[in-house]
Amino acid sequence: WAAFSDDVEAILALKRERNAVILAHNYRTPEIFHCVADIVGDSLALARKAMTVDADMIVLAGVHFMAETAKLLNPDKTVLIPDLGAGCSLADSIAANDVRLMRQRYPGVPVVTYVNTSAAVKAESDICCTSGNALAVVESLGGERVIMLPYEYLARNIAAQTSVEIIAWNGHCEVHERFTPADIRELRDAYPGVTVLAHPECPPEVVAVADFAGSTVAMSDFVGRHKPARVVLMTECSMSDNVAIEHPDVEFVRPCNLCPHMKRITLANIRTALQETRHIVTIDARVVDGARRAVERMLAV
Ligand code: 13P
Ligand code: SF4
Repeated sequence: WAAFSDDVEAILALKRERNAVILAHNYRTPEIFHCVADIVGDSLALARKAMTVDADMIVLAGVHFMAETAKLLNPDKTVLIPDLGAGCSLADSIAANDVRLMRQRYPGVPVVTYVNTSAAVKAESDICCTSGNALAVVESLGGERVIMLPYEYLARNIAAQTSVEIIAWNGHCEVHERFTPADIRELRDAYPGVTVLAHPECPPEVVAVADFAGSTVAMSDFVGRHKPARVVLMTECSMSDNVAIEHPDVEFVRPCNLCPHMKRITLANIRTALQETRHIVTIDARVVDGARRAVERMLAV
């Protein structure tokens, strides 16, 4: 704690001084999540709550696409990301031109884009989705087919739940693609009775043998509602650390995969961001309106 307390005290003072709030994704390490964040949640909750922020400045303790979404919804506020290198393998898997090519290949088919993409990709899309609302978004379009970009596994997991035909792309999350059904079999053998919760970014074969699949908030809610004696969350490592603090009566089994991009955000660089107003998130004027339209359309579903 001694190593963190100086940064925590400084960040709390800087937030007051700069009239700033910190939005933190569920994959933040516990000292950020529990000690300095004002608003926490999954990608959907962060987007929704970003619209209600009453402050001059938002520090996004998450990855770059989340900071862009916060900026799209708060054009008049200063939005900061403490490390510009906090990217995402999924967001990097697709460019705006790929979306245009998919539209040419499947004329008239609507494009649903995961929020884990750049603003330029969102601007080429009809509507965004997150892991928390993907099924509702796909079905809201009322058509027989949708193009769902860029995550192959999320698209296949949604396809298993709907009669809408899903045309997928081949993007992957380097964290969730590594979980396997064999991992779950080994966990069930080693920890009898363990309840297995999987993020919908996991391969469909993993989701099929889990007890429940849902966004990071849905997993956390599941633990609160069902209070399993033992649970494992097949997702990024900090998720279990954060949820475990809130449920000391539940045993968390913790094999997990680290997201190197998420882990670039630290107390030290949040402090520097607030002190030096960096790094300011800007969005190319040519894509800002289209990207905002896709995000707002999602939030209206
Ligand atoms: P959610 O928190 O929306 O479930 O997303 C997980 C994720 O991988 C974000 O990068
Ligand atoms: Fe991207 Fe996966 Fe990391 Fe989320 S966990 S930021 S989807 S690489």
